[in-house]
Amino acid sequence: MGKPSLCNLWPGFALLCSLLLGGEAAPEKALIGGLPGFNGTFPSKHYSGYVTIDESHGKNLFYYFVVSESNASEDPVVLWLNGGPGCSSFDGFIYEHGPFHFEANRGGGLPTLHLNPYSWSKVSNIIYLDSPAGVGLSYSEKEEDYQTGDQKTASDTHAFLIKWFEQYQEFQSNPFYIAGESYAGVYVPTLAYEVVKGIDSGVKPTINFKGYMVGNGVTDPEFDGNALVPFAHGMGLISDDLYQAVSSSCEGSYWNPVNESCGKFLSKVNEDLDDLNIYDILEPCYHSPEAIERSSTNVRLPLSFRKLGETERPLSVRKRMFGRAWPFRAPVRDGNVPLWPQLMDRNGVPCTDDEAATSWLNNKAVRKALHAIEESFTWELCTGRISYDHDLGSMIRFHKNLTARGYRALIFSGDHDMCVPFTGSEAWTRSLKYAILDEWRPWLFGGQVAGYLQGYDHNLTFLTVKGSGHTVPEYKPREALAFYSRWLAGRRI
Ligand SMILES: *[C@@H]1O[C@H](CO)[C@@H](O)[C@H](O)[C@H]1NC(C)=O
Ligand SMILES: *[C@@H]1O[C@H](CO)[C@@H](O)[C@H](O)[C@H]1NC(C)=O
Ligand SMILES: *[C@@H]1O[C@H](CO)[C@@H](O)[C@H](O)[C@H]1NC(C)=O
Ligand SMILES: *[C@@H]1O[C@H](CO)[C@@H](O)[C@H](O)[C@H]1NC(C)=O
Ligand SMILES: *[C@@H]1O[C@H](CO)[C@@H](O)[C@H](O)[C@H]1NC(C)=O
Repeated sequence: MGKPSLCNLWPGFALLCSLLLGGEAAPEKALIGGLPGFNGTFPSKHYSGYVTIDESHGKNLFYYFVVSESNASEDPVVLWLNGGPGCSSFDGFIYEHGPFHFEANRGGGLPTLHLNPYSWSKVSNIIYLDSPAGVGLSYSEKEEDYQTGDQKTASDTHAFLIKWFEQYQEFQSNPFYIAGESYAGVYVPTLAYEVVKGIDSGVKPTINFKGYMVGNGVTDPEFDGNALVPFAHGMGLISDDLYQAVSSSCEGSYWNPVNESCGKFLSKVNEDLDDLNIYDILEPCYHSPEAIERSSTNVRLPLSFRKLGETERPLSVRKRMFGRAWPFRAPVRDGNVPLWPQLMDRNGVPCTDDEAATSWLNNKAVRKALHAIEESFTWELCTGRISYDHDLGSMIRFHKNLTARGYRALIFSGDHDMCVPFTGSEAWTRSLKYAILDEWRPWLFGGQVAGYLQGYDHNLTFLTVKGSGHTVPEYKPREALAFYSRWLAGRRI
């Protein structure tokens, strides 16, 4: 931080300063004035602001960059992406593995920020990116840019990375990884593929890409769609009789009911699961009077969309979560993907507990501190501002290509998530038919079994996190930091 303040007045000065003083890139993006709600000292440098990826359209992607608290020059740089599509990566920043815990202020007003001892910035430099344009704090001056899809999102994010590494030259030689969860199961491999194509064709600066991680990620309609029934049976949520009936009439094809009797048994399965919290079957459901009142006005929605989860834990897990993934009855198929606000048939989503994020990110002083657009552009956890096409199909060919080329991959699953159940991720990783080098075994944290893993040839690892819901670092922050740091360092998990 100790740069002359002149450097922060105008981007031109900033550039000059960085040339003269050698070193810190993009100093105008540094959070020198602190952050509203945070009273302490930053454990490392933080930067935030826009990268303009299309000057003529005024298309700007917003990022928050947290420098590693260990060894910034050696530690990997990780790009983090939340899913949706349409959800902001501030979800990860605020509720999962960011540098702060946000304590909502029940009396109104801004949340209080505390340091998060399990922040992923303990072991990595991490970029939280709002993507595509229209999501979170990212925007375009051309409305037409909000019509987007997998292909465009991947190429825009690649353009972002190239410009970002130009601005943060001192991080160009660090190992680089891409990570994300839920619908980012599509963003991560498709972006990785763009990055590798860029490396192959000599795009500069060369990104030192090493691998990627996906948590409870959307991958393939057949594998993901077939995952629910075996999950529900294994977890004791449906009876043996129903399991036998549904398996024999559907003949294993649950994602696309083959005939009437299969459809009938699938409806029975859904009835048994309806009142569960799909993001964590162990968490109670949220039945606020408001939720019940609203839900009765919107009968088109299955019950499980209306009553989502609740927890007693004060800071780490929200009462309500939504929009980080596709609802489980409809695996992601090709074509337009309805966004959560569209599914809910209203602008907001009822009874959400995303107050901390929403009040903080829509505050004028916070926007100013973050170098973000004015607060007349509303931040939403998951937006309906964009229209999104799933236009790159199954992700399996991307995973095959990337792992065959030597890029490392960690596919992890909170094993109590019913939204993208582990059974699908376990099945598709196995379907690649790579040799098993580290046979299914428990992995440990604090002397306890934290989950299970199977290691394959080509540096592909499938790992579960025992007792975790959809957003693993939110439910199991200690265990998440443990496997994350071991995997990044190339150590045995
Ligand atoms: C901020 O820190 C100061 C000095 O340590 C303390 O007096 C004050 O109460 C703190 N404010 C909040 C909101 O924590
Ligand atoms: C970071 O790691 C490098 C290489 O191991 C070492 O030379 C350097 O001193 C370390 N820096 C810090 C701040 O620990
Ligand atoms: C369709 O339904 C019958 C039961 O009526 C079942 O035995 C059959 O295997 C089902 N599946 C297919 C693929 O035809
Ligand atoms: C991966 O994709 C690239 C680009 O399409 C292709 O040239 C390459 O042969 C593929 N590699 C593998 C191992 O599939
Ligand atoms: C696995 O990753 C390590 C470290 O990046 C690399 O040296 C090795 O070649 C990779 N193995 C395969 C089979 O790709």
